[in-house]
Amino acid sequence: MKRKYAKVSTEIPGKNSTLLKKIGEKFVASGSMYSMYPIIAAKSEGAIITDVDGNEYIDFYAGVGVANLGNRNPKVIDAVKKQLDKIVHTCFGAVMTEPFIRLAEKLAEITPGNFEKKTALFNSGSEAVDNAIKIARAYTKRRATIAFDGAFHGKTLLATTLTGMVKGLKQGYGPYISEVYRFPYPYCYRCPFSMKSTECSLRCLKFIEEGFLTRVDAADVAALILEPMLGDGGYIFAPDEFLTGLQKLCKKYGIVFIVDEIQSGFGRTGKLFASEYSGIEPDMILMSKSISDGFPVSAVTGRKEIMDSAPILGGTFVGHPVSCAAALAVLDIFKEENILDEVKKKEKIIKERLEEMYQNISLIGNIDGKGMAWRIELVKDRTTKEPASEEATLVCQECLKKGLIIIKAGVYRNVLRFIAPLTINIDQLNEGFDILEEVLKKINND
Ligand SMILES: Cc1ncc(COP(=O)(O)O)c(C=O)c1O
Repeated sequence: MKRKYAKVSTEIPGKNSTLLKKIGEKFVASGSMYSMYPIIAAKSEGAIITDVDGNEYIDFYAGVGVANLGNRNPKVIDAVKKQLDKIVHTCFGAVMTEPFIRLAEKLAEITPGNFEKKTALFNSGSEAVDNAIKIARAYTKRRATIAFDGAFHGKTLLATTLTGMVKGLKQGYGPYISEVYRFPYPYCYRCPFSMKSTECSLRCLKFIEEGFLTRVDAADVAALILEPMLGDGGYIFAPDEFLTGLQKLCKKYGIVFIVDEIQSGFGRTGKLFASEYSGIEPDMILMSKSISDGFPVSAVTGRKEIMDSAPILGGTFVGHPVSCAAALAVLDIFKEENILDEVKKKEKIIKERLEEMYQNISLIGNIDGKGMAWRIELVKDRTTKEPASEEATLVCQECLKKGLIIIKAGVYRNVLRFIAPLTINIDQLNEGFDILEEVLKKINND
């Protein structure tokens, strides 16, 4: 079928990708050379990625939830160029720069919570996670952290410890940091307590409080960290009552409530932050990825008294002026271009397309989502729900050959996650779904 945007004219991978990959395999550590796809990207613009062989792909993954405003958004690039012409690096710990301070000022305003807030900036999501736990420990003078099954919080040692998925992420890196207690996430399609969501009365929530009798004393718990929408864990949204219940629980026991919005933030779910659906006001919110549309920066924004309790925080590159300039431009664009209204419009199209696929393709066991964050969970059988992990890999590979990049998620790696740039145009969106549908149907019948 002739496509307008997806233009693949070579074998995948093409000659140039194959050659570069060979060099990479010789010189790049194999753990770093891990990549879902065998192509090497050369250029990106909006929702199109071009590889070194000239093949063009529709982007349904946005650099894993980074390019929410599109790859190389022109206004972001412009802000970055202007910053490059002024100042690039000082090390904030020696000489301060303005973009850091301005970004902190803005983040206090836009994050949930009607209280005084302060921000610490870092370079990556994992660093934000590590530092949030350090700050919570300093504030509470307690040592333990509660985290969840299926969570992904990053790749530093503490973030890996907090991560609730083993395969490929936690094998061979132990021993892990002590005093992390893990509880089940409300993954209602595969309820950890084998209950129906209509009759469970939030068993997951009660289980945590029971855990204060069997696992860890609440008086030792500094922080509870969770993603309101599991990212790498499979785009699973925690029910609103679970989130409001957690907030109450944390308040009751003096635990710092940390919400990791590194993947779910900045419009991905149709609101600026996924937390806004439930109305929770976390003590700390973690941001990165789409905060700057592609430049490394992360933020911990939290209650003033908590943030101020930590001794010196930071590092050589934290609050890098170029990344902060990009983040400030992102916030302006959200205001100027009514991005969230656009997401709501596209949400309708996405839902319709996916629901139709669900009706016709039995390989799809579950679809769910909000805004432009959607899960397509593949199963071998809708009754047994046996995860169709190999099929998910095959779907991704076949999509690539037809000019669509989509990535997997989930503990069983059987979930396709839809994370296209929020700015993708409707024709590109539909063309991407045409490819996905064609591939799913083919693999469904094989
Ligand atoms: C929810 C969440 N937290 C933390 C991280 C870690 O961020 P980084 O890869 O920038 O260290 C990620 C990355 O995918 C994430 O999705």
